[in-house]
Amino acid sequence: MQTDFLVIGSGIAGLVYALKVAQHFPDKKVMVLTKAAADETNTKYAQGGVAVVNDLENDSFEKHIEDTLIAGDGLCNKEVVEIVVKEGPARVQEIIDWGTQFDKAPSGDYRLGKEGGHSEFRILHHKDVTGKEIERALLEAIEAAPNIEMFNHCFVIDIITQHHLGYLVTKSTPDIECYGVYILNTNNHRIEKIVAGITMLATGGNGQVYRTTTNPAIATGDGVAMVYRAKGRIENMEFIQFHPTALYEAGKRGQAFLITEAVRGDGGILRNVHGEAFMERYDPRKDLAPRDIVARAIDSEMKRTGTEHVYLDCRHMDQHKFKEHFPNIYEKCLSIGIDVAVNMIPVAPAAHYSCGGIKTDEWGHTSIRNLYACGECSSTGLHGANRLASNSLLEAMVFAHRCFVDSVNTIDAPYHHWQGAFEDIPDWNASGTSDPKEMILITQSLKELQQVMSDYVGIVRNNVRLQRAMKRIDLLFEETEDLYESTSVSPQLLELRNMITVGYLIIKGASFRKESRGLHYNTDFPEKSVLIQNIVL
Ligand code: FAD
Ligand code: SIN
Repeated sequence: MQTDFLVIGSGIAGLVYALKVAQHFPDKKVMVLTKAAADETNTKYAQGGVAVVNDLENDSFEKHIEDTLIAGDGLCNKEVVEIVVKEGPARVQEIIDWGTQFDKAPSGDYRLGKEGGHSEFRILHHKDVTGKEIERALLEAIEAAPNIEMFNHCFVIDIITQHHLGYLVTKSTPDIECYGVYILNTNNHRIEKIVAGITMLATGGNGQVYRTTTNPAIATGDGVAMVYRAKGRIENMEFIQFHPTALYEAGKRGQAFLITEAVRGDGGILRNVHGEAFMERYDPRKDLAPRDIVARAIDSEMKRTGTEHVYLDCRHMDQHKFKEHFPNIYEKCLSIGIDVAVNMIPVAPAAHYSCGGIKTDEWGHTSIRNLYACGECSSTGLHGANRLASNSLLEAMVFAHRCFVDSVNTIDAPYHHWQGAFEDIPDWNASGTSDPKEMILITQSLKELQQVMSDYVGIVRNNVRLQRAMKRIDLLFEETEDLYESTSVSPQLLELRNMITVGYLIIKGASFRKESRGLHYNTDFPEKSVLIQNIVL
């Protein structure tokens, strides 16, 4: 198959980009690939909303910029922060024009929420299901676009570069180029190649690398792993954000239900198992301190009291308002026997967001020609060492637009040098492989990986734990590569392989960073270094 624009991912980043290029180039073909159902994305699960300055009487770009820089703990790219904050309102208006509805007060003004690290109420939301509403509106707009084709359940295995044409490609090869991708089409179980003028990676996050995460099963870091294998640049992978308040359900692993930070914005109070409101011992901003601080405080309270969770107390809040603003959370809690008017909600931190990723410049270019990256899989410089709450959806929209603007200038003069034909790209080589005999090898390795990452590379790290984690990952890597060489590929095997690569990159980044900053806290280097650096792998 061939296409002008190939978009991998149907979350906010991929869909906004696809809509923009499709509308601008009605005669060109836009293909969107997803490895699952169209709406099964991190985007769909977003609760709190979109941070954007929209009330210029009480808020300002300067304040949002300042809040983002403070959360980022010295590592944000200030120019990028200014771009995202200032271009944000226009991008948000576009998704409103595509049909997204944000909650409004009877006066007609938007109801604004507040979350940790924000100095003002500035978060647009749709009750506590903002992402679901955005995903709905964007997918409807995609369906109405005549030149966009969506292919679900098509797992992208690797991006095609000169390597697949027989050339030696290393990290120091100056002009690595992307020609498209190989996919495992799980609708017909065939491996196919897709050649593209421009390829956009919008593959989302990697929370599944950890034992519990707010992310759905698709979040396995595939885009980052693909780019790393293709010898592209990856940055700041050690900054994994743990959301302070995922619903704690004893014995549960995998995706945990999120209790949005907006609940604390509306007055929810964290208490330890003895009922003490402990946050004032850790930070003057108490429950609304930036996420890294709150997650570490909870981790410390859990260790101190020997428990697996703390509580979020909402009993004193206006229950009518709670049900109105957080109907999804209210129902979920009730379904497991928690009446928030009577019972406190047990919560614990869970892996939530990857601040690092595929390194891009301010137009979304990766280090590989003809390949853009956007959304959670990218590292644009906005988040630095810790993302400010609700800045992610905003970043995805702003960068999807920037990638679009840049694509307009490049699609008619594709800047890859290769002038070959579709047929020159070899088909996938599956010789020497056979069907896997024991799926248990894959599921067991995945459990081991998640265990290692959670036990040794979690909220609090040290040198011994990181060394131990690296040794375990090395072994898992070897075993999985053997399996990959000898068995036919399946989504489970491909995801395991990608997650091992992502785990390796997180540990490597964490080991190189000889300091504690933002989300990376190493008890052997508890101070911030005077050297401010991004770790590029
Ligand atoms: P995603 O929305 O995750 O989409 C990824 C897409 O890539 C999917 O379609 C998937 O199928 C596809 N894909 C991945 N790998 C492959 C492959 N190998 N082949 C083919 N397709 C592939 N941020 C905020 O700003 N505000 C919030 O309120 C907020 N709340 C959140 C709540 C939760 C529970 C979670 C998990 C995240 C939240 N975030 C929030 C973060 C935010 O939702 C995500 O960072 C953002 O939605 C990511 O969008 P994306 O388009 O980059 O990726
Ligand atoms: C939340 O609603 O607490 C999540 C917001 C975010 O991750 O930005």
